[in-house]
This record gives sequence, C-alpha cells and structure tokens, in this order.
Amino acid sequence: MLNTDASESGKNLRIVVMVSGGGTNLQAIIDGVRNGRITNTEIAGVISNNKNAYALTRAEKNHIPNQCVSPKDYESRDIFNEKLLEAVASYEPDLIVLAGFLVVIPPAMIRKYENRMINIHPSLIPSFCGRGYYGLKVHEAALERGVKVVGATVHFVDEGTDTGPIILQKAVEVEPGDTPETLQKRVMEQAEWKILPQAIDLIANGRVRVEGNQTKILS
Ligand code: GAR
Repeated sequence: MLNTDASESGKNLRIVVMVSGGGTNLQAIIDGVRNGRITNTEIAGVISNNKNAYALTRAEKNHIPNQCVSPKDYESRDIFNEKLLEAVASYEPDLIVLAGFLVVIPPAMIRKYENRMINIHPSLIPSFCGRGYYGLKVHEAALERGVKVVGATVHFVDEGTDTGPIILQKAVEVEPGDTPETLQKRVMEQAEWKILPQAIDLIANGRVRVEGNQTKILS
C-alpha cells in the first residue's frame, strides 16, 4: 500500500495541485472534493509556474492557498528547482497532482515524492506521449496519424517522461471533422475530468498499490 493511504490514519489526504494554464482539471478536483466524488481529501495548496494562469484565479475563488513559482524570477534553473521544492514542501502534501503542469519536474522532487506524485496526460499512454507531447500538440499528432480512438491517462510520475505506473485510462472516440481544439475539449470532458478525480479518490482510500511499473486497483 502507498504511504499516501489516508483512510487508515483517519486523516484527509493532503494534496498539492500543480498547474500552468486554465486549470479545468483543477476545477474538476475542486468540484469532486465538494460533491463527494473525491473523499478523505483536502486541497492544501495550488502552485503555478505562470502568474497569469487562470488556475490561480480558480484557487483564489475557492479560498485555496496558492502561489506562483516562476523560473523567470530566478537566476538559474537550480535555484528555481530549489524554490519549487520548498513551495511544495511548505504544504506538507501526501500527494502531488500535476494537472496541466508544463514544467520539467526536478529529479530531486521526483525522488522525494516517489509514488506520491501523479500526472494527467491527454492520450492513451504509450501513444502520443513523451518529450514534446503536451497540451494541444498531443491532439494535433493524433489527428495527423488518423487514429480513431484517443483518450487520457493518469499515472505516477517517475524519472522518465510519461513512463510511470498507469493508474487509470479512459478512451474517447475521434469524430469526423474534429479539430485539435474540439478533440481536446472532448478528451477533457469525457476522460480527464473523470479519471483524475477518480484516481485521487482511489489513492485517498488506499485502493492503489504500485507493483513494479504497474498498479493494482484494490476493491
Ligand atoms: C490538460 O489537457 C492536460 O491533460 C494537459 O494539459 C491540459 C491542461 O488543461 N497536460 C499535459 O499535456 C501534460 N503532458 P487545464 O489547465 O485546463 O487542466
């Protein structure tokens, strides 16, 4: 069992959500905690690398502690990485949720939060993932290849790019006339906003076990 199992201790799972943009996945998490789809969980903080991210406004509106840690504000990547780690640690999280966080995660952070950091990726891994596949680019590539089914994946973060143990996936059909934008919207609505809250709920209730590069969902 993961040491993220909050259900055994009777305490809420404290999550930090990391964002870069619009924050629709953050909103799905906020809504999930509020409507009971996500149980035993509290959003301890939101961190963005981009001060203009609408995700920060969503956090503010919902009275969730939030801050921006931008690489632009520091002299070197090493200093930024240190500041990012400090910001995350200040919320004392049990789980870190990358919800559209488009910055390379410092290796020290990956090691510190091994099996305690998850990411939502807008494709069915191992298709259309890895370096250079993020945001709209994923959907452009899928349409260019002419696939008929796309989807989203929630996985633990390891030192590779989109290579960690897969927790949940959901498929979505490509429709005639889709553009990268229409496809992105459908993947968000039908897959991302469902499986990300669901994965957090499973972890908060001790139902995800990591076994090598795979996970087992316990009933
Ligand atoms: C989402 O589609 C998410 O899957 C993607 O960025 C978008 C963020 O949207 N993440 C990646 O591409 C990570 N490789 P949001 O800010 O509205 O949640």
